[in-house]
Amino acid sequence: MLVDKGNHRHFMAKEIHEQPEVVAHTLTHYLDMAAGTLRQPFEPAVEWKGLSRLSVSACGTAYYAGLTAKYWFERLARLPVEIDVASEFRYREAPMPENGLALFISQSGETADTLACLKYAKQERQTILSVVNMPTSTIARESDAVAPTLAGPEIGVASTKAFTCQLTALACLALAAARARGTLSAEDEIRHVQHLIALPGLLAKALELEPEIERLARELSKASDVLYLGRGTSFPLALEGALKLKEISYIHAEGYAAGELKHGPIALIDEDMPVIVVAPHDALFEKTASNMQEVAARGGRIILITDARGAAECGITPEATIIMPEMDPLFAPIVYALPIQMIAYQTAVFMGKDVDQPRNLAKSVTVE
Ligand code: G6P
Repeated sequence: MLVDKGNHRHFMAKEIHEQPEVVAHTLTHYLDMAAGTLRQPFEPAVEWKGLSRLSVSACGTAYYAGLTAKYWFERLARLPVEIDVASEFRYREAPMPENGLALFISQSGETADTLACLKYAKQERQTILSVVNMPTSTIARESDAVAPTLAGPEIGVASTKAFTCQLTALACLALAAARARGTLSAEDEIRHVQHLIALPGLLAKALELEPEIERLARELSKASDVLYLGRGTSFPLALEGALKLKEISYIHAEGYAAGELKHGPIALIDEDMPVIVVAPHDALFEKTASNMQEVAARGGRIILITDARGAAECGITPEATIIMPEMDPLFAPIVYALPIQMIAYQTAVFMGKDVDQPRNLAKSVTVE
């Protein structure tokens, strides 16, 4: 299949801008949009009911999608989740529960470490569920059930639209698990589905922030280190933000759980290191705000990604604030991923880096 960049300078830019459309596509696969419910019967059919644990493994950005979904499966479906990067999981000789379910997340469906974990899980007689973008891939073929992401071909080495589509599919799976386990009322299902249906519109709004992010990127390009902080579902996004920035701009970046600030990274705070805080106004906002105040008190430079309420209630004056549209916080990471991606993209472009083909990285890592 011939894929071109359309009107964009890079595949990565095109893929960032495709997100409202491909997330909508992915949603249509899992939701009955007219009824505002999950499709019935829900595919893939999985025995969620008697499960004692879900074991998840993946690599890179797909791992961060899994880490976000852990919060959703635990909160919505009361299903305990264990998650590890595939390169660790494959050698841990982890005991797996009888009749357990193992979930693998992969854009390419060919990543060597993820595939090795899948084989281990099979030996341990687990049912294999995979979230993949390539339906003909090895991981898809080796699975008992496949939950597709309909992102279309992703060419940029740094994953963008595959990530938000993975999150979208995982959100739908978490809702399906919750329904099957009886932890979600019909009313709550409708409410959550409405929030999912709103995502493409919110993603389109988030893309409008690009000119602002471009200005911010000029400043960031001067930094040699950047710290990303987040709590709850914003924590995996902080990790993903740092990964994206280092992958394509080669600026050293680290993601941290905001609550861990006092256990180490606070020692790094000075007027040279930007601290990017991902903090929608959710139930944990006040906790993150107090971490921001600790950074501000030490002369740190804060770039805050939040909504209007968060901006009004953060109690500090950040160096820059990216104001996101209002949305329900549960699935907000799907939308907050966009400024994270645009920050990395614009910074790398401003620095003249080869955004689509960053040095030393491969799109699909098929060897160990
Ligand atoms: C590589 C890519 C990443 C991707 C990771 C996992 O490192 O550069 O963008 O997240 O592999 O790939 P997968 O195809 O399994 O999602």
